[in-house]
Amino acid sequence: MKKLVLDLDMGVDDAMALAYALASPEAELIGITTVFGNVPCAQSVANCLAVLELLGHPEVPVVAGADRALAAREPYATMVDVHGDNGIGGVELPVPARAGMGAPDAAGGAAVDFLLDAARTWGSDLIYVPTGPLTNLARAIERDAQAMRSIGGIVFMGGALTIPGNVTPGAEANIANDPEAADAVLRSGVPVTMVGLDVTHQTILPFDELARWRALGTPAGAAFADIVGYYFNFYLEHQGYLGGCALHDPLAVAIALDPALAGMLDINLKVDLDGPFRGRTIGDPLRLHDPQKSSRVAVSVDAPRFVERFCERMLRALG
Ligand code: RIB
Ligand code: CA
Repeated sequence: MKKLVLDLDMGVDDAMALAYALASPEAELIGITTVFGNVPCAQSVANCLAVLELLGHPEVPVVAGADRALAAREPYATMVDVHGDNGIGGVELPVPARAGMGAPDAAGGAAVDFLLDAARTWGSDLIYVPTGPLTNLARAIERDAQAMRSIGGIVFMGGALTIPGNVTPGAEANIANDPEAADAVLRSGVPVTMVGLDVTHQTILPFDELARWRALGTPAGAAFADIVGYYFNFYLEHQGYLGGCALHDPLAVAIALDPALAGMLDINLKVDLDGPFRGRTIGDPLRLHDPQKSSRVAVSVDAPRFVERFCERMLRALG
């Protein structure tokens, strides 16, 4: 069976991605590395530990990663509104019985050690899915590109190729939080799959699904209904036309486990680092003609099939 490592900036949709991964038969979740983004990295560690206990999986290692972007001098300290004041919709979960491995730092040291070790151990059986800023991945490639090139797949949630960004007209949040890291990854030649807003804005969890989670009568069902309920309210207020919330991070996990869910465009990408388009993912003019393409971008998705599968697996994870 494939081995899976998630890299989470543990907000609401990261928590859904984690639940989806735990309920997926295609791969075994062997660890979570963490990063700043929706929350500071230490909060991401705490949220991952708490959600794993809630879901009955206290055995999964949680490893601290980068606490700031490659170019930042200070640790990132922002709590992003859309995910609530603790990153999981303001819902207070029981304090976890264990601590994470390592401590957040500028180099993402513990997370990068864990990831490189997993890459060397599992090689082509390993799938790595970052759903926050690509800082840990950029650090891992900087340290051992060969090891990262040898793994079975790197599928990240982030970017937007055919539609506008969600932070600025050009930039999606995960890329905007560390454009230098994303650019280094995309221009490294290490093969990656990008699951961006192009497809995640097509996969919508309808507003009425939470009632089914609550009806399970389990602590996990009730807590997830509250956590995602907060996220729904944000969507209602800001993007009500979607009819629900976008399943950004769960879709990246789903495509990593079943690439047939998406239609792909092979292209060499870069990230704009200067000017008004800072943070935009776009074709790299210098490598467009190169027959070797290092990025695949999901540009279409079988949304009904994915959403149905997501709803089934969430009921299993929360039941
Ligand atoms: O733009 C969506 C992404 O930004 C998701 O990964 C969400 O969790 C936030 O990190
Ligand atoms: Ca995320």
